[in-house]
Amino acid sequence: MSVTILVGAQFGDEGKGKIVDYISASADMVVRFQGGDNAGHTVVNERGAFKLHLIPCGIFKKGCKTLAGTGMVINPDELLKELDELESSGIDVEHLYISSRAIILMPYHIELDCLSESTGRTGIGTTKRGIGYAYADRARRDALRFENLLDPEYREIRLQRILPTINAELVAKGGKSLSIEFLREKLNYWAERLGHRIVDAVSFVNDSINSGEKLLFEGQLGAMKDIDLGIYPYVTSSNPTAAYAAVAAGFPISKITEIIGVLKAFSSAVGTGPFPTEIKGDEAYVFRGTGENIDDEFGARTGRARQVGWLDLPVLKYASIINGFTSLAVCKIDKLDDFDEIKICVKYKLDGMEINHMPSARELERVEPVYITVPGWKTQTRQIRQYSDLPINAKKYLEIIEKATGVPVKYIGVGPARDEIITRNIK
Ligand code: GDP
Ligand code: IMO
Ligand code: MG
Repeated sequence: MSVTILVGAQFGDEGKGKIVDYISASADMVVRFQGGDNAGHTVVNERGAFKLHLIPCGIFKKGCKTLAGTGMVINPDELLKELDELESSGIDVEHLYISSRAIILMPYHIELDCLSESTGRTGIGTTKRGIGYAYADRARRDALRFENLLDPEYREIRLQRILPTINAELVAKGGKSLSIEFLREKLNYWAERLGHRIVDAVSFVNDSINSGEKLLFEGQLGAMKDIDLGIYPYVTSSNPTAAYAAVAAGFPISKITEIIGVLKAFSSAVGTGPFPTEIKGDEAYVFRGTGENIDDEFGARTGRARQVGWLDLPVLKYASIINGFTSLAVCKIDKLDDFDEIKICVKYKLDGMEINHMPSARELERVEPVYITVPGWKTQTRQIRQYSDLPINAKKYLEIIEKATGVPVKYIGVGPARDEIITRNIK
């Protein structure tokens, strides 16, 4: 039995998809435990190049069960689209299950998100996928859950009860109200197409754990965008932090055996909010690229150019504290191959004073990053598969990360494809 939780240690897009695809080789079940189709998880393997939004990246492992878990908000139309796309690439999607307690993300959630963003009311640069509004409905007990797809009578009662409030909100924001017939038809269609995949996820997950299987929980986004612990209000509406995997899936935290923090060898973020180590102007091109390559820094969900910057150790230290990582996966070390010198932010100063905590978003806008400069390695790392073959300065770079976080680096990504990785045996 083993329960591994894998989460992002920065601002999202750290390379979670690649690492989940790689380590799911030894998993019996992979569970996405929060978020919705705001995610874009890139996988490059022998089956092709994929950007997954809702389906766990363990889907490529034959026979592996995959679960869209309870903590998620799922747009059924997007899920069906993703299933169809994978099937048309010859991927077996039979073992994709959906938690009966997962929230159904409805068309009006998307409309409300778009209206809020376009009027600048929230102004946080969401993915416009309706994520915040679906979670808001969950909190105010107005959401429909996948279990409702299996119960037409109750579904109709719920729909009739919630729709007047939803329509009033749509109109108040400058949108149009939706007819009950339109939504009823959608729900009927989703019930028909997805009903057979719905499971009681609590017994599904706990039975798997108790029968000795290996489970991998895949997070969405990263620590700095956690609704409680991140750069509020520039955050998502769920908890991309490891402990939430147990809360959402309904298993005891004592069962967790490994917590993997995924990070990029530099920093990136998309959307509004503070980003202390940002590189502005033409220099950013070195990390961002043009968008032509699968590993260029453009949103896998929205296509927006990502902000890029130097590695930020205060962010990593904070992510380690709140998650309790037992190992790290450092992706994109190959993107540093050509630098003469590399900058690393080692601490922040606020109003001239060094600080040892992660400040509020407002203060983070004002912090002054303190950098050290380390020599680059000027060696191509993409072909390297053994840790011992890495250039000495690349090893030193990784050691700086280990020392700052107190966590060993177990996986090192040297390219976007599944096999472009170095695995270390750590205790
Ligand atoms: P996720 O949301 O955490 O799954 O990450 P994304 O897929 O949104 O973004 C990560 C980007 O980095 C994608 O373009 C990946 O193809 C790419 N990537 C991941 N690991 C590596 C690596 O080790 N080297 C390179 N060059 N690209 C990588
Ligand atoms: P993965 O899983 C990067 C960002 C948005 C915005 C904020 C809130 O691929 O790492 P939301 O649509 O969730 O209400 O937007 O969060 N965001 C992401 N940034 N990667 C993601 O997912 C993201 N999902 C949301 O840009 O700043
Ligand atoms: Mg992504």
